[in-house]
Amino acid sequence: MSESVHGMWSSRIMFILAAAGSAVGLGNIWRFPYVAGENGGGAFVLTYLVCIFLIGMPIMVAETILGRAGRKSPINTMQDLTARSNAWSGWQVIGWMGVLAGFMILSYYAVIAGWAVAYLFDMASGTFVGADSTFANDAFKSLTGDVWAVVGWHSLFMACTILISARGVGKGLEMTVKYLMPMLFILLLALVLWAALTSGHFLEGMTFLFSIKSEDFSGDAVLVAMGQAFFTLSLGMGAIMAYGAYLPKSASIVGSATTIALLDTVVALLSGMVIFPIVFANGLESSAGPGLMFITLPIAFGQMSGGQLFGTVFFLLVTFAAITSAISLVEPAIAWLVEKLKVSRAAAAVSIGVLAWFWGLGTAFSFNIWDDVMILPEKTFFDTMDYVSNNIILPLGGVLIATFTGWFLNRAIFDEELGDLSGWLKTVLMLLIRFVAPLGVLVVFVMSFI
Ligand code: TRP
Repeated sequence: MSESVHGMWSSRIMFILAAAGSAVGLGNIWRFPYVAGENGGGAFVLTYLVCIFLIGMPIMVAETILGRAGRKSPINTMQDLTARSNAWSGWQVIGWMGVLAGFMILSYYAVIAGWAVAYLFDMASGTFVGADSTFANDAFKSLTGDVWAVVGWHSLFMACTILISARGVGKGLEMTVKYLMPMLFILLLALVLWAALTSGHFLEGMTFLFSIKSEDFSGDAVLVAMGQAFFTLSLGMGAIMAYGAYLPKSASIVGSATTIALLDTVVALLSGMVIFPIVFANGLESSAGPGLMFITLPIAFGQMSGGQLFGTVFFLLVTFAAITSAISLVEPAIAWLVEKLKVSRAAAAVSIGVLAWFWGLGTAFSFNIWDDVMILPEKTFFDTMDYVSNNIILPLGGVLIATFTGWFLNRAIFDEELGDLSGWLKTVLMLLIRFVAPLGVLVVFVMSFI
């Protein structure tokens, strides 16, 4: 099939922008710094980088191959490809797990993105002008402690996501990423510069992020680093597969994947380089958890001249980065509902959005009325959704995707999708997809259990 019924990207660049829009989001700016802070800094960052390049990149290529070869929702793509490869139809479970993981992630993603929207308005109204660390801490606690506020912002964000998703591939998704992603990038660079020149603790931040101490490696930190690699690249649940379905035949898959992974990694590292100098300059805890970005950045904006404006623009861009990620979390499910039930995109988007919104209330409550309700040991509803989806379902989905692509996918399809690749590169890629990526995930799983 040369075209998808859901529409097509107008060019290879649009695919890169959309996939980078999916990849770059709260995972880079909010989640990366806080999990790095909780898991020992440099050792974590190194593990994360190794996972990105040895496990993440090959799986991104594999997902894109499957998506473009199938041109449907991940569930039906897998059905189609197993048939064309004479493989067991049970591989469709990749699609089902993906819909489940996407739903779980979206449910809490919208809550956290809601906080960013709240901060956008706080910044604009000047709440944080002159803010110090006590003020920023209190502001974060009072926002997340206020059930109605949290649910309100959460609802607003979910509504925006659904609205854009409903409009479809071309009109909804492309427009959002084309201008906003480059702006986010430039603003981050400016912030790094600010941190380097004025925080007085830039070196300390860099040391925390990049100096590797062997005592910081632990089985669980390695699992979290791998989970973060999957999360930040949007891998393991079919989002990239769904986007790959709209990729024109002529575009190079390996070239696109490399660009996307590099962009994503740079944004995460830049965020860390902004946040940790502020942490150390203000005597904050690097292991502060999910509040880290929301406490550090307002201090920075509160102290710089023009901070009210920069802060507003920054949180606006974070919100947009989150929207371009959130729409990719629902795309597999939307495409499937449209194919299966022949409903409109809008109807599919609204139904999934309402369900995920409802499930998201559990996360909204995790920081206030349910903050002592533990689902897994020592894990709130939010922690549980985050842990199970990122550290278990996504890596497992990744193993299945790599294994299917490397061992069971019809070789002619594999070769056709990688038509542009020279012989030895293809061999290296095949080795990565067949052995390195799946075994890497399994090794990390085993390490985290012992
Ligand atoms: N990668 C996004 C981020 O870093 C989140 C995201 C979007 C995602 N789509 C995904 C994560 C699919 C896992 C799977 O914010």
